[in-house]
Amino acid sequence: MAEYKLEVTTGDLKYAGTWDHIYVTLFGTEGQSKRTELDNFGTDFATGTTGTYTLSTNLSLGKLLLVKVEKDPFSYIPEDEWYLSKIVVTTPDGEAMLFPCYRWISRGELVELRGGRALKGFEEDHPLLIDHREKELILKKSFYQWKILAEGLSHINHFNNVLELPAEIRFSQSKSTEIDYVKMKTGIELKLKGLLGSVEKWESIDDMKKIFWWKKTTMSEYVTEHWKEDDFYGYQFLNGINPMGIKRCSELPPNFPVTEEMVKPFLEEGSSLQEEMKKGNIFLSDQKKMDGIAPRAYDGKPLHVTAGLCLLYMNPENKLMPIAIQLHQQPSEQNPIFLPSDSETDWLLAKMFIKNADSMDHESVQHLMKTHFLAEVYALAALRSFSVIHPLYKLLFPHFQSTLYINTGGRISLFGPGGALSLSSLGYDGLTELMRRNLSETTYSSLCLPEDITARGLESIPNFYYRDDGLKLWNIITSFVKAVVEYYYPSDSEVCKDTELQNWISEIFTYGFLGNKASGFPVGFHTVKEVIKFITMVIFTVTGQHAAVNNGQFDYFSWVPNGPILLRKPPPTTKGQTSMETILETLPNVGETVKFAAMVCLLSETYSDMVPMGTYPEERFHEPAPKKMIKEFQAELSNLSEAISTRNLQLEIPYIYLDPPLIENSIAI
Ligand code: FE2
Repeated sequence: MAEYKLEVTTGDLKYAGTWDHIYVTLFGTEGQSKRTELDNFGTDFATGTTGTYTLSTNLSLGKLLLVKVEKDPFSYIPEDEWYLSKIVVTTPDGEAMLFPCYRWISRGELVELRGGRALKGFEEDHPLLIDHREKELILKKSFYQWKILAEGLSHINHFNNVLELPAEIRFSQSKSTEIDYVKMKTGIELKLKGLLGSVEKWESIDDMKKIFWWKKTTMSEYVTEHWKEDDFYGYQFLNGINPMGIKRCSELPPNFPVTEEMVKPFLEEGSSLQEEMKKGNIFLSDQKKMDGIAPRAYDGKPLHVTAGLCLLYMNPENKLMPIAIQLHQQPSEQNPIFLPSDSETDWLLAKMFIKNADSMDHESVQHLMKTHFLAEVYALAALRSFSVIHPLYKLLFPHFQSTLYINTGGRISLFGPGGALSLSSLGYDGLTELMRRNLSETTYSSLCLPEDITARGLESIPNFYYRDDGLKLWNIITSFVKAVVEYYYPSDSEVCKDTELQNWISEIFTYGFLGNKASGFPVGFHTVKEVIKFITMVIFTVTGQHAAVNNGQFDYFSWVPNGPILLRKPPPTTKGQTSMETILETLPNVGETVKFAAMVCLLSETYSDMVPMGTYPEERFHEPAPKKMIKEFQAELSNLSEAISTRNLQLEIPYIYLDPPLIENSIAI
């Protein structure tokens, strides 16, 4: 007689428990147990509890291989899903083995849990497990499939709505309910005030302050007060919601004929544009990717989107100041270069058109395409390519957990043809074209922060906290990933012969970057070093980079004039013709403004089941080494958080978006 002790943990999510009957069968190298019901006296499988059960067999089962879990109805009650976290089985020899599950289980589903040490495919040595792994991968490839969203964009998952998603990647019940709640709450409050749906223009800019009388952040209030100021305008290119828009300018583009006379008054006395460019103090935001994209129609006429150029100067007080703006690519008399010395409203309007393009680039390219959609590619390829027992699956899955859910839902409510973003000046088709143009030019290097900073010449620009915090975060992720990857891959040859890993990167190249060799994305991996760099980039993208472009949306965009994704009037073609009335007519009307503000409110909300970066509440690794590496990773993240908090005490505007406790472990909103 041999006795196995089973510790069965039910998750602590809402409704995780079940009344249903649970049966378990153990499979070992020497045989299998009987199908045994887990039934103790009293309540079993209540939310957030661990029950201990004994399973007896005539003889020892040898080395444990699999645990099969089945759920049958209790009485006539309808489906009562169960969220099983894990089972720890202690063998008659006293050896404890972890079988992670962490998913919902429905009646009649085949659930066979792999346990013990993480293994690469070629390390499997038992026929039962070799066969099980093959079948698992076939099943996963049929479960998760690629679909084309639009020609020229990364492929997406094939599920049409979140209800179709497999259990392992579904949100907790509480989160879906909360999202619905915030949506409802925002909509109702705005409706009550008669704002939503109103086609009136604003009577004054100050009237917009009544939109969010019930929700404010320190930063959103700061933006409301300072949005017109040039130094805050420049600051946002470094530390605002889109820190990806500028690069150092050592030579003016030929189509941007800014003269010394034009900008002399805004430079340090006695200096010149040429000198400042030589010193590395001149920067450029060039929105040429917008050029020629057809905007959407509005009241039967096409809107206007500018492909502008904005020149910025890092002055001796270390403030980045806009000093010249040209709103279209081709210089002409109808395309004057606007200057800070022009009338207040001319200059403000020119800055607003630059911001209009910048905020559309931010939402569709920097936020959606480069974090949400690429994360989906990395996630879907991983779900299709890796067995759950693969070490890299265990490392990566927590960083993908919520991504397919939020993207599948977001494509309908946010990015879809009827979603909030389709109300932008470019509309759905225009934004799609913008993403297409950007994807074709996205390089692997540009997604790796240290290389991107160097390529944009921003290594030494002062007060660039996105760079400072981001590079520290990048290095911390690198150390963690290096430790884990080197532990599981002692040599390059192990990388080369890992077919699951090779399949993962090959799918990413094919479906994410559409086989574009010029992107510099790896087609396959040859060395351990290549794997470390790639996984670092993936984890940085879905944690830090997403937080940097996502978490401040309410802060910066709830005050719509600071980042209007819709402008209703054409840009100025001559100087001296505008007034505050022109600005009010150009900004979105009342109903449109509140719709955008409500969208960023929803996108910046923190939900109660938020998983902060580096916390892995789900225990997936059985062996001690990776657990220790996770602890070290957490300690490093905590040191970084302390350093950021101390630095922020000295700043007028604290930079918080890359503070680890505020970053999510996966893209979840
Ligand atoms: Fe997001």
